[in-house]
Amino acid sequence: MTTGSGTVQVVRSVAELEGIREELRGTERTVGFVPTMGFLHDGHASLLAAARAQCDFVVLSIFVNPKQFNQASDLEGYPRDEERDLGIAAEQGVDLVFSPEADDLYPEGFATSVEVRGLTDVLCGSEDSRGAGHFRGVTTVVALLLNLVDPDVAYFGQKDAQQAAVIGRMVRDLAFRTRVAVVPTVREPDGLAMSSRNARLSEAGRQTAVVVPRALERAREVALSEGPAAGIEAGRAVFRAEGLEPEYLEARTLSGLREVEEASEDDWMLAVAVEVDGVRLIDNLPVEAGTGKGAGR
Ligand code: PAJ
Repeated sequence: MTTGSGTVQVVRSVAELEGIREELRGTERTVGFVPTMGFLHDGHASLLAAARAQCDFVVLSIFVNPKQFNQASDLEGYPRDEERDLGIAAEQGVDLVFSPEADDLYPEGFATSVEVRGLTDVLCGSEDSRGAGHFRGVTTVVALLLNLVDPDVAYFGQKDAQQAAVIGRMVRDLAFRTRVAVVPTVREPDGLAMSSRNARLSEAGRQTAVVVPRALERAREVALSEGPAAGIEAGRAVFRAEGLEPEYLEARTLSGLREVEEASEDDWMLAVAVEVDGVRLIDNLPVEAGTGKGAGR
């Protein structure tokens, strides 16, 4: 089926997707895949641009995955605008949009879940946060989508650093043939990381939210000269000045999510979750030890 917005082909059934994938197999074209939950913004667009630049055929999935939401109200309240999403997909040169129904992806009797241990019980996976069940929902749907789309490369955002680490581990552990590519975080001009959730902020909340990248920048600056613990303390002080207490602010390695005690360690980040104006925001800054710059991951 082709929609009115440019030449993007939209597929809604698993069977139809499997047919198209089978045809592609005969052509030796490389497939790039960008899984999303829709309501696309420039962060998603940068993943699509990376896929377009590196692969012959680009697949975008739009699926608000019920398995990764802890609360029904959060799932129902998730913003959706398919028409606009298809316009952005066309602009970015997407070849195929896969937008399935939940009961096609998870038919009656669906009984399997994929769980990555360890990496999912820290940061956003801790009991006081979203819990490991959230990531179980993410890895289950991503494993299923990877099997259906069978891409050469799948693109994920550094914005969701823990998600990228967990998926990277799953792909390695279960020997998926797909390579995981992590794309740098896209930010608003004032530094706030783009997120579908930003739309839920009031005008005042949106102004306050700039404290998130500012606190991370400050934490990184201090961490590089005085160590991660001092950096975290400095970042906390920036939040405190706005009357905010982060859910977590931690220094952890990018791929193993191990706590970091020395700034000289390789490939680590400062990661934060904080509720601003009733909206839970997450962000992180990768740190390239000794340079004071973000790692180009
Ligand atoms: P969603 O929140 O729609 O995000 C889709 C992809 O876009 C993720 O890889 C996310 O890290 C990336 N992304 C979001 N904001 C970004 C930004 N500001 N800069 C760069 N990349 C950004 O993450 C999910 O959906 C779901 O958990 C999913 C992986 C699709 C599984 O359901």
